[in-house]
Amino acid sequence: MTKEKDSHSLWGGRFSESTDAFVQAFTASVQFDQRMYRQDIQGSIAHATMLGEVGVLTQDEVKQIVSGLESIRDDIEAGRFEWSVELEDVHMNIEAALTQRIGPVGKKLHTGRSRNDQVATDIRLYLRDAIDHIAGELRRLMEALINKAEAEADTIMPGFTHLQTAQPVTFGHHLLAWNEMLRRDYGRLMDCRKRVNVMPLGAAALAGTTFPIDRTITARLLGFDAPAENSLDAVSDRDFAIEFCAFASLLLTHLSRFSEELVLWTSAQFNFIHLPDRFCTGSSIMPQKKNPDVPELVRGKTGRVNGHLISLLTLMKSQPLAYNKDNQEDKEPLFDAVDTVEGCLRAFADMMPAVEPNKAAMREAALRGYSTATDLADYLVRKGMPFRDAHEVVGKSVAYALEQGKDLSELKLEELQQFSDTIGEDVFDVLTLEGSVNARNHFGGTAPAQVREAAQRARQWLISLD
Ligand code: ARG
Repeated sequence: MTKEKDSHSLWGGRFSESTDAFVQAFTASVQFDQRMYRQDIQGSIAHATMLGEVGVLTQDEVKQIVSGLESIRDDIEAGRFEWSVELEDVHMNIEAALTQRIGPVGKKLHTGRSRNDQVATDIRLYLRDAIDHIAGELRRLMEALINKAEAEADTIMPGFTHLQTAQPVTFGHHLLAWNEMLRRDYGRLMDCRKRVNVMPLGAAALAGTTFPIDRTITARLLGFDAPAENSLDAVSDRDFAIEFCAFASLLLTHLSRFSEELVLWTSAQFNFIHLPDRFCTGSSIMPQKKNPDVPELVRGKTGRVNGHLISLLTLMKSQPLAYNKDNQEDKEPLFDAVDTVEGCLRAFADMMPAVEPNKAAMREAALRGYSTATDLADYLVRKGMPFRDAHEVVGKSVAYALEQGKDLSELKLEELQQFSDTIGEDVFDVLTLEGSVNARNHFGGTAPAQVREAAQRARQWLISLD
C-alpha cells in the first residue's frame, strides 16, 4: 500500500508508524457509508461553491473541484469507482480520488471544514431524501386505504373487543381506523423532517473555522432551512436519527397490527379476506397451504426497527460533547431502519388494493356473535327502561337465542316478548346488522354515511399535502 492510497496520506502527518492492519479495517466505515456518496458530493460542491463566493478559493479552483467531483459521481454511478478500505470512509475515498484526478487543487476542498461537520451534513441530506421517498410511499398506502374504505363503506363485519365479537362495524370504518394511525405517522415524519433539515456544515471539527465562511450560502445551496446555531451541538447531535427511528418503530408497530389482522383474516377459521397469490407463498410439505408471508414478514420486521431505536438511544447516552468516533455507529441502524420502512411500506402499498373482503363470511360472522345485543339494550332504554334492567333483559334473550342456535334477529317477536313486553315489532329495525351500523350515524361513527364522509375528508387532507 503506497502512502498515497492510504488514509495516512490525509491525516498521517504526526504519526510515526502506520495503522495496524486490523485496526484499519476495524475503524473503517466505507463498507456502509459509501451509500451516502451522492450527498457527500452534493455537500462538497456546495462547500466549494461557497468558498469561491467568499474568496477563499478562486473561481477557477471551484470549477476544477466541481467538475472533478461530478466525474467521480458519474464513475460511482457507472460502477467504475474503486472503494478502498484503506481510505477509511466515503469522505476520504472521494477526497483522495479528487486529488488524484485534478491534482493539488483537490487538497483545498477540505479548507474550513472537517469530517465531523461533513458526515453530520451527509447523514442529514441522506435522511431528508429518504424521508421524502417514505412520505410518498405512505401517501400511496393511505390512498389505497381510502379508496378501499369508500368501496367497502356498506360492507358489514363484526367489530371486536378482546377479539370477541362486540358490535357490527363496516369494513370501510375498520380500514379508516388503520388510515388514522398512518396519518399520525405522517405527521410525526414531517415533524422529524424539520429537525433533520438543519445544516451542520461550517461547524468544522467542533468550534467553527477561522476562514470567512458564509453558512447561509451553503444552507441555501443544499436546501437546508437554516445553519445549525451551535457548532458543538451541530457535530454531535444525532437526535434527528433517533426521532426517525422512533417514527419508524411506531409506523412498524401499526403495520404489524394491520399484519396481525390480515393474517387472522386470511385463515380458514375467519376467511374474511382474500389475498392474491402473488403476496403469498406455499409450503414445501403441505400442498394445501397458502401462507400470508408478506404481512407475517412485516410483523416480524418490527423487532429489528425497535432494536435500531434502542441502539441509537444507547449510542448517544453518556457521549460527551462534541464529536466522538462512537457516532460512526449511527449509520448502520439508521440505514437499516430506512430500508426496512421503505420495504414494508412498498409491500403494503402494493398489497392493499388487492385485499378483497369475503363479504358473505364477514356477514355470517357478524350474525353469529350476537353483535346487535347492545342495540337491543339501547332500544329498550329508548322505550323508557333503565339501562341496567335492559342489560339484564338482553342477557336473558341472548342465553335463550344461544339455546335455540339462532341470532337475536332470527327470534320471533313472541319469543323476544317473553323477556319484556316493551318489545314491539319495530325491534327488528335495530336487530339487523344494517340497522345497527346505520344507527351509529355521528361524526366518527361506523354508519356507511359517516364512512363515506370520513373517507372524503381523508382524501381532501391527502390532496392538500401535494
Ligand atoms: N466515518 C466517520 C463517521 O462516520 C467520519 C467522521 C470521522 N471524524 C473523525 N474525526 N474521525 O463518523
